[in-house]
Amino acid sequence: MLRNTPQQVARLLLAVLIAATASLAQDFKKQVIYQIVTDRFFDGDKANDNPPQSAGMFDPTKNNWRLYWGGDLAGIEQKLAYLKGMGITAIWISPPVDNLNVIIPDRSGSPTAPYHGYHARDFKRIEEHFGDSGNSWTAFDSLTRAAHRNGIKIIVDFAPNHTNTRNAGEFGALYDDGKFLADYNHDPNGFFHHNPNIGDYNDRYQLQYNTLFDLADLNQENPTIDAYLKAAIKQLEAHGADGFRVDAVKHVTWGWEYSLVNAAYTYAPTFLFGEWMESLSDPLFHDSYKFANRSGMSLLDYPLYGAIREVFGGGGDFSKIDQTLSVENAGFARPNDLVTFVDNHDQPRLLSVGSDDNRLNESLAFLLTCRGIPVIYYGDEQHLHNDTRGGGDPYDRNPMTSFDTTTTAYRLIKQLAALRQSNDALAYGGFHERWMNQDVYVFERQFFNDTVLVAINKSNSSDYRIDGLLTALPAGNYPDYLNRLLGGVALTVPSGNGGGSHPVSSFTLPAHSVAVWQAAGSAPGPQVGSIGPAVGQPGLRVTLAGRGFGSGVGPGFGKVFFGPTAAAIVSWSDSSVAFAVPRVLSGAYSVELMDSRHSRSNPMPFTVLTGELVPVTFTVNNAPQTRAGDYIFLTGDTVELGNWGTTFDTAVGPMLAPHEPNWFIVASVPAGVTIRFKFLRIAADGSVTREGGSDHTYTVLASGTGSVSVDWQH
Ligand code: NOJ
Repeated sequence: MLRNTPQQVARLLLAVLIAATASLAQDFKKQVIYQIVTDRFFDGDKANDNPPQSAGMFDPTKNNWRLYWGGDLAGIEQKLAYLKGMGITAIWISPPVDNLNVIIPDRSGSPTAPYHGYHARDFKRIEEHFGDSGNSWTAFDSLTRAAHRNGIKIIVDFAPNHTNTRNAGEFGALYDDGKFLADYNHDPNGFFHHNPNIGDYNDRYQLQYNTLFDLADLNQENPTIDAYLKAAIKQLEAHGADGFRVDAVKHVTWGWEYSLVNAAYTYAPTFLFGEWMESLSDPLFHDSYKFANRSGMSLLDYPLYGAIREVFGGGGDFSKIDQTLSVENAGFARPNDLVTFVDNHDQPRLLSVGSDDNRLNESLAFLLTCRGIPVIYYGDEQHLHNDTRGGGDPYDRNPMTSFDTTTTAYRLIKQLAALRQSNDALAYGGFHERWMNQDVYVFERQFFNDTVLVAINKSNSSDYRIDGLLTALPAGNYPDYLNRLLGGVALTVPSGNGGGSHPVSSFTLPAHSVAVWQAAGSAPGPQVGSIGPAVGQPGLRVTLAGRGFGSGVGPGFGKVFFGPTAAAIVSWSDSSVAFAVPRVLSGAYSVELMDSRHSRSNPMPFTVLTGELVPVTFTVNNAPQTRAGDYIFLTGDTVELGNWGTTFDTAVGPMLAPHEPNWFIVASVPAGVTIRFKFLRIAADGSVTREGGSDHTYTVLASGTGSVSVDWQH
């Protein structure tokens, strides 16, 4: 009798796991995400409270906010019904991987532990306080399975920038599934960057290569670390993680991250969004949307968060939010993929900064109807906050004290999460400001003939009369979709108005109220609202989401076109079609879906890569002199290198020059391909100096990492 080898059995199991996961992955635009600090949510397993290998890091009295308090993966699993009842469809958990085991005293001598999960020691095992003292995957697997049974996705916080503190505790020690690899003081193979802490947060080199808060900074260009981190993210996918919040992406090597995204998407359908802390006035704002647009990794929407704070937390004017949205929507190619939030674990909760329950509810109503994928920070639905020392870290990582399903916020989230499923304008629609003053914001979302109109009055005392409002809603009477939960009123659009903008009858919007009016139409043909991922090589599995796709069979068969070339279809339903990227030339495409009756959809932009990506460090020595604001860039003959582009947005860069006149940058380029490239200087005034001579060439390895160094040719 033939027997399977253990490796074959493992591969089979992996395939089954991925298949189970894949059905739930993709189209995150329809999700409502709930962010949990695992340690603070619910203690579902007392046996892991004080595990032997890290004994003493648990504080049962809950007095020391920097020790573990007992919450775990089992606790999240036990509260799935509560979350599902609120309409939550995805849960973002703290980094679940094995963290530092040694207590580190803080400046006042009081003990601290990595209850938050950001001080990893082994990315291939589960933290004993969250799972079990064997650091096994049992609790994680159980959670993902239970979540999937409830139609809920699991998003893992993945922190590839660093391990743990380099100058105390375990000195940054890194393990590979239990095997010691290195620590900061014993690093013969260069697994860490050995640089000072970041001093200048506007310096691109320091951000990526210096150290964040003394956390041992991983050298992602090292082939062992590159392979390790990619194996770790794939292992999480194999165990059912549906998506990733990538920690501190501004501090990881940006060019390397393109290959991380590519590796994760190539392994299984997923969704990645990164934490890039910024505001609109940040000098690196342009770098952030270039990164999101080209890497295919979406971002947490920090600029909008800042505006929400000012408007709902302070006395700010709604124009602040409106301007932020206009600027971001012009820069980000896929604004509906941005991940939006009003609170998180790094900032004082809105309720700690001058807001009140009314304002918090209004901000949540805004978040759940604005463009982007909303995240609810755990406990906001219970109006949880602790204002000690302003309510910042760690007082924003509160213990969850109640699971009341009758609060106004819980009911509001439930109602608007349902609308996200029933009216495609929220997930896929455009965003238009319709009426605004300092206290009132009326905006509309529209996707073909699905429309949602939202009116918010955040004033404590002033009712406002709204005259001259226009809407895309067809003539009719519209009750408040929230059933007056936040004091909303009804709306009338008189008959007899043609065109896309109908005048609305004047009405009064009471102080502290939110009204939502909506109409969902039918789709006469295929209407696509989402493509995910939006960047990838031939063979990669991609999903189109929307509606009116039909069954795919009929007089003809449904097809997906890249120009004249049809893609191989993997699955087809009325609202979702999965396909493999066809073997077409790399470059920018408008993907179109054709249903079985030959009706074509609206086009969706997609960038076809030349191949799977491998990170390569490009160095050019003795580049021409630069003045403030001038930078050296890399350009070349593949889409990954910008197809010989010579602008900030098309070329690769700005390159980094810790030792001018030598510049370097990591770029992820197609595996196994011989690339041609050159360097150029883009001056602050936009003028371009191209390198002379013939093109440089380099053959990229089939896997691993690479490097190439040349002299500037005059
Ligand atoms: C950002 C995380 O959100 C924060 O909580 C953490 O301490 C740092 N990154 C470092 O991982």
